[in-house]
Amino acid sequence: MSDRETVGAGFAAPADSNGSALGAAWEAYLSAARRERDSAREREPGLYPHYTENGRWHLLAVDALSSWGETASSERLAYEHGNWTAGFWFGVMWLLALDGDDDAAQLASSQLAALAPRSVDTTTHDLGFLFSPSFVLPFETGRLTDAEAAPALAAARTLARRRNASSGYIQAFGPIGDHRFAGTSTIDTMLNLPLLWWAAATYGEAELFDVARHHARLSARLFFRADGSTYHLNHYDPLGGELLDRGTFQGAGGSSCWSRGQAWAITGFAWAYAATGEMEMLEAATRAATYFWRHLPADGIPPWDFSDSSPDARCDASAAAVAALGALILGGTLPDEAAAAVHWSRGTALLGHLAACINDDDEQSGILLQSCYSKPHDLGVDGSTGFGDYFLGLALALANGRLDLRTVLGFDPEARRGRKGASRP
Ligand code: GLY
Repeated sequence: MSDRETVGAGFAAPADSNGSALGAAWEAYLSAARRERDSAREREPGLYPHYTENGRWHLLAVDALSSWGETASSERLAYEHGNWTAGFWFGVMWLLALDGDDDAAQLASSQLAALAPRSVDTTTHDLGFLFSPSFVLPFETGRLTDAEAAPALAAARTLARRRNASSGYIQAFGPIGDHRFAGTSTIDTMLNLPLLWWAAATYGEAELFDVARHHARLSARLFFRADGSTYHLNHYDPLGGELLDRGTFQGAGGSSCWSRGQAWAITGFAWAYAATGEMEMLEAATRAATYFWRHLPADGIPPWDFSDSSPDARCDASAAAVAALGALILGGTLPDEAAAAVHWSRGTALLGHLAACINDDDEQSGILLQSCYSKPHDLGVDGSTGFGDYFLGLALALANGRLDLRTVLGFDPEARRGRKGASRP
């Protein structure tokens, strides 16, 4: 736990916020996104923002696949995740396009061909992160046609191929079936599932829905501790499907709660509830959310891992951005209006706090500051991240009515659940 005061069950917007604060945050976001648009024009083609260090983007080639590389000592092999974040830059450009910025739309559109080949990449579960912000969002906002969005459907089919035949989890890392990775499953996958929910709803591919549902149900059962915190990484026996062990890759330790993992759980299960209407998903989302809100410092910015109680614990604002989106999704889909309103107001309150982390410095790259890419690996520990920038914008667009919930989700939650739920603006 951080020693910053936590909020317990309640959570309030910043004291000085008023009705127009969310609008102001959206404007600040757009302004920072315009800076990202302009600096992208100066970049070498094929390179995309990953995380910032010392105020500058660490750029990664879009075709960098996950692989085994050499460590600095060259004695041990280390796993490289490759480029799993390029899609977020596209997403930020498409969010800017909501404001009528045709230059941003044109810039994103002209670079989609560089990303499209990743749709058949069988070395990562992060196809949702790569293809939902880049292809699905503009498809849903009318910027791409069916034919132009075809790589997203191809990516969904590739992701579904990662389903383990024995127990149905989606393999997280490495080439499909690779003996070193076949048993890996992470909580992050929950927020790659939206690509499958979308493809299933849009193209009627029931198998994609079943793959997502199966993975989500298994994760709801096996990723939680009794207190509602989540593990980051599960290992299964890839042949028999049994759970072998649980721990972390990016958190502080096997028994700690990595705050971004907790946020992936909130929003991933909230999305799964919207897609399926199943109480098991809702229960998992609210369990994750309850832990998150109980441990969140009053300033709304979580430590990178909830176990880090050091006075100078690094923050991860990207975790808060992801969690804010999850709270809004719960607020828009829960049938119980009173419960829905609580979630919605937590989401907007959190966005009110995150407004203070939006970069307004022309000399610095990135949009959402105070984020942490990977503390254990000492990468991007106090800066911006592609995912933080994107999910903040998506949540602000939803909170401000620039996008409706159906467009954000990529399907109509009412149609899926076949019953009327509470719907917030
Ligand atoms: N691996 C996904 C993340 O860093 O959150």
